[in-house]
Amino acid sequence: MGQKGPRFAVSISVTPIAGALGAEIGDVNVADDLDDDTIADIRRALLDHQVIFFRDQTLDVERHKSFTRAFGELFVHPNFQFGQENPEIVYVRREPGDEKILGQGWHADTTMMAKPPMGAILYAMEVPPTGGDTLFANQYLAYEALSAGMKRLLEPLHAVHNDTRVAGPNLDLNDKRASQVRDDENWRPTENLHPVVRIHPETGQKHLFVNPIYVHRFDGMTEAESQPLLNYLYDHAVRPEFTCRFSWRRGSIAFWDNRCTLHLAVHDSHDHVRHMQRTQIA
Ligand code: SIN
Repeated sequence: MGQKGPRFAVSISVTPIAGALGAEIGDVNVADDLDDDTIADIRRALLDHQVIFFRDQTLDVERHKSFTRAFGELFVHPNFQFGQENPEIVYVRREPGDEKILGQGWHADTTMMAKPPMGAILYAMEVPPTGGDTLFANQYLAYEALSAGMKRLLEPLHAVHNDTRVAGPNLDLNDKRASQVRDDENWRPTENLHPVVRIHPETGQKHLFVNPIYVHRFDGMTEAESQPLLNYLYDHAVRPEFTCRFSWRRGSIAFWDNRCTLHLAVHDSHDHVRHMQRTQIA
């Protein structure tokens, strides 16, 4: 599935930002009570462009949650639970001096779950004057560009996804970044298998579904046996012609389809704060 021009949308404007994926949505204030046609147009734009962006929005926690609920149930991320008032909200915060940031490697979100979230809605509250962009990669295009032989090889494979690289007491992430994650002794890893090639439940199109943050090996193989092919797929999946890059402004929103994209937060905010508020859709 390649990039398409605007279609179907009647109530919003849809302007692609790159050849591979990504479109900016205009003529909508997402904090309003949106009617069914507008929600359907936004969902259509998401399916057509894999990630969509809004500018100059104002979202408090309640409005962020209600906009998210228009597309499905709110997902509660198990690794960001600290007894806070709004368990569905994750703050992606970067402070000057942070050695690491949340999301700095290519990934789809939370793929250790049996049913990973379908999408995420990230809202920018404070952004650096330059830097701090987010990259996205279209995994339909990544799948389509593989040879017929590689597609046949991958078709029966499942990958083992777990969260041991991103949470738990054995990591030192919380010492290196402002975005905190569960690292208590009661934390337990979550592990699930997913097909390496998945069929998108809404578009019916095949896409690649592996990422270097959560995947450890192919089911039935060792890590050493799996790694060469996984490394090939990780490089292939993010070839520049499958990507787009979004530069944030305060009040910007990115809404990505987590089933058929990968993303990466660029770690170049230097001396500046970057503060984002994220929801996920179950
Ligand atoms: C994430 O991986 O959800 C965060 C992306 C970003 O901060 O740009």
